[in-house]
Amino acid sequence: TLIPVILCGGSGSRLWPMSRGGYPKQYLSLLDEHSLVQQTALRSKGISGALAPIFISNTDQRFLLAEQMNSISVTPHNIVLEPVGRNTAPAVAVAAILAQRVNPEALILVLPSDHVIPNQALFHQLVQQASAIAANGKLVTFGIKPESAHTGYGYIRRGAALAADGACFEVDRFVEKPDLKRAQEFVDDGHYYWNSGMFLFKASTYLAELGQFSPAILKQAELAIANGQQDPDFMRLDPAAFAASPADSIDYAVMEKTAHAAVIEAEGLGWNDIGSWTALAEITPKDAFSNSQIGDVIAENTRNCYIRADHRMVATVGVQDLIIIETADAILVAHQDQAQDVKKIVERLNASG
Ligand code: GDD
Ligand code: MG
Repeated sequence: TLIPVILCGGSGSRLWPMSRGGYPKQYLSLLDEHSLVQQTALRSKGISGALAPIFISNTDQRFLLAEQMNSISVTPHNIVLEPVGRNTAPAVAVAAILAQRVNPEALILVLPSDHVIPNQALFHQLVQQASAIAANGKLVTFGIKPESAHTGYGYIRRGAALAADGACFEVDRFVEKPDLKRAQEFVDDGHYYWNSGMFLFKASTYLAELGQFSPAILKQAELAIANGQQDPDFMRLDPAAFAASPADSIDYAVMEKTAHAAVIEAEGLGWNDIGSWTALAEITPKDAFSNSQIGDVIAENTRNCYIRADHRMVATVGVQDLIIIETADAILVAHQDQAQDVKKIVERLNASG
């Protein structure tokens, strides 16, 4: 049994002002008519033998998620609601416990909801290969050849080869979000991959490792389910039990510590983490002046700009390397080089209430 687990509790603050607290980026249609979470669900539908996905979301977005799934005819196995975000390790723990109830030997495929993967056929093929390795008790990661010393990713050093077919290796070392200097060393080393953020393992393998490295997360996840409530449409985790869980990501809590990680080379997927406006600009079609113009835009003597007009006309003259995002109530003008810092605006807005 393979159960996709779709994580959709993130906030996506670097894509402000389109991505908002109540409407984060995974629910936006940024590239085509489907939102990122819809694309993720459709992608998981094509895995042969997979059951319907378990979604883990926060309570506020439950109707948005249910509606978006309904409109693409995906009937979730379950939608689990977190009263508060505790990062990905507790979310995956809850999903693993539920998957084990379906089948004690169940494999789970953890999928972030903020990626694009153009090559679906290859994705499906890699998942089949990874399943065989995960069935033997490995925590399988999908490694992307690093293009730069990006500090927002996990880095995976490959060890001995594992399988006869495909590029599959033991993991020597997993380092989550290194600083720039170490990231550069890893890229230069040549044996490192970026962690794509997708994982495949037996639910029981993950829970055993979590129990060893972060027993409090495991215990609170069990309690949050035991004291939670299953409605027809949603599984509501117990607020007190879940809030008492330590907050940590699966990368720090388990992947950096486990001795049973494996990595499968995921070259050719076209994988892209739409982490910032620059990342989105990179995969959006451009005109002869390297501009992307979305909506009612007039660009005169303008180069290398990503310009998005949702409600009003946007006109530019004599500018370059900008990101300009117009929405009904807020406008962002940012330099391409500083797109990561858009989240600072969100921090300031949150601080001022
Ligand atoms: N349910 C739930 N609850 N989901 C969450 C929570 C939470 O508290 N926090 C984050 N998520 C979801 C996000 O919506 C996203 O789909 C996924 O979990 C990953 O979280 P991110 O916050 O986007 O992680 P990241 O991008 O910083 O790092 C991860 O992904 C990188 C690749 O994109 C790590 O796995 C890195 O190692 C990896 O390189
Ligand atoms: Mg991410």
